[in-house]
Amino acid sequence: MEKQRLDRILASTGKWSRREAKLLVKQGRVLIDGSPAASAEEKWDPASAVITVDGEDIGYRQFTWLMMYKPGGVLSATEDGKGRTVIDLLPPELRRLGLFPVGRLDKDTEGLLLLTDDGKTAHDLLSPRHHVDKVYYARTAGCLTEDDRAAFRAGMTLRDGLRCLPAELEILSAGETSEALVTLREGKFHQVKRMLSARGKPVTYLRRVRMGNLPLDPELMPGEYRFLTTEEREILGAERD
Ligand code: URA
Repeated sequence: MEKQRLDRILASTGKWSRREAKLLVKQGRVLIDGSPAASAEEKWDPASAVITVDGEDIGYRQFTWLMMYKPGGVLSATEDGKGRTVIDLLPPELRRLGLFPVGRLDKDTEGLLLLTDDGKTAHDLLSPRHHVDKVYYARTAGCLTEDDRAAFRAGMTLRDGLRCLPAELEILSAGETSEALVTLREGKFHQVKRMLSARGKPVTYLRRVRMGNLPLDPELMPGEYRFLTTEEREILGAERD
C-alpha cells in the first residue's frame, strides 16, 4: 500500500482529528514498530507498520464498511435539513469518515443498508452490470396469488411505462394480508411498492433482508450497525490492496 503521512493515517480511523493526531505524536504517545514516532509528517505504509497509540493498535482500515439495520422513519442520505439520516445514527468517530449509503431505501423501508467510504466499490456494486440481487420481505394488503408470481416472473411493465426485469415473488402466506419475499435484479425508485401496487396488493411493510450473498445479520436490531467482516467484504468485492 502507498505510504501516507502519519497524521493522515491516524485521522483516517476517525478516532482523532489531524490536529489531535499531531499532538499525540508530539506527546510521544504514538509508536511505530515499537519506537516513538519522530514526526506527524513522516510517511508510513499503514498496511505493514504496526502503529499504536498509548500501547493500543490504532485499528487502521483503508476503507470502512458497515452493515446497518436501517429503521423506519430515517432517510438513506448523508445530510438532509428535513429529518434524521442513517449517518445521524452513527457515533462521532464514524460520522467523521464521510460514509455514505450504498443505494437507497425509502424512508419507511427497513432493513439491510451498507455504508462505506469506498466510492469505487460502492459504484461497482450499484452498477446494473453487477446484477446484485436484492431480496425484500414484504407484507401486503390483499391476497397474493400464483398469477402475481407469474406476472413478476414474466417481467412487468407498469402503467407509468416502467419496465421491470423478471423478478421472483415467493409467497410466504396469503390471505386478507399476505407476506412474500421479493427478489429484484435492479433497484428502481419505489420498485417493490410499485410492482405490488400494480397487482392491486399495496405494500404495508417492507424490509430488505439480503443483498447478493450478504444477508441482514439477525443479531442486529433496527438502528444498530456493525463492521463487515473480511469475508463479507470479499463477497462484495470490497477487499483489495
Ligand atoms: N422498493 C421499494 O419500493 N422501496 C424500497 O425502499 C426498496 C425497494
